[in-house]
Amino acid sequence: MRILVTAASRHGATAGIAAALADRLAAIGHDVDVRPPEQVQHLVEVEAVVLGSAVYAGMWLKAAREAVDRLAPELRQRPTWLFSSGPLGDPPVVTEEADVSGYVAATGAVEHRTFPGALDLCRLMYSERLMVRSLHAPEGDFRDLRAVEAWADHIHSQLESRPRPSSRPRQRAGGVAAA
Ligand SMILES: Cc1cc2nc3c(=O)[nH]c(=O)nc-3n(C[C@H](O)[C@H](O)[C@H](O)COP(=O)(O)O)c2cc1C
Repeated sequence: MRILVTAASRHGATAGIAAALADRLAAIGHDVDVRPPEQVQHLVEVEAVVLGSAVYAGMWLKAAREAVDRLAPELRQRPTWLFSSGPLGDPPVVTEEADVSGYVAATGAVEHRTFPGALDLCRLMYSERLMVRSLHAPEGDFRDLRAVEAWADHIHSQLESRPRPSSRPRQRAGGVAAA
């Protein structure tokens, strides 16, 4: 199936999750396109979508929120999965969870998952460092790419178990319906 994986990422951790997911879906045999949400204006020839975002201050990034607004009617017409990347630490500690119930409803998403993220203080802007300090967020890469790959397998099996759109029997020359 032709699958679009699109994720909003400020410092690269969520983009890494999207890439791992896309690699796994491609290894299974899907035709996968990965691109940032701002580059997706319409869903042309896309049969299924995975849309994700990093969480900052309890919210999805603007590019992902805008993608939901812009693409919701098209997303509702195809199987869609959503994910958030945020919690940090081992075990991951949720600082502030994004409320994605509105995005799930707007897109008709099959499912939403939250994956642990990564924090590299060197990459942060000054204001972000201050915020991270006040949250006592631990630095490190807490992404669980095995869990991401397992989710790709799960998405694949959900796609496989969907009823196929009924195809009309093709007419052979002479008017006999092909099996
Ligand atoms: C300033 C700042 C605020 C954050 N706020 C949250 C938050 O509210 N909830 C959460 O789960 N994670 C929060 N995080 C953790 C990020 O979501 C996590 O580091 C994520 O993997 C970053 O993804 P990115 O590198 O793709 O931008 C915050 C991180 C920073 C630097």
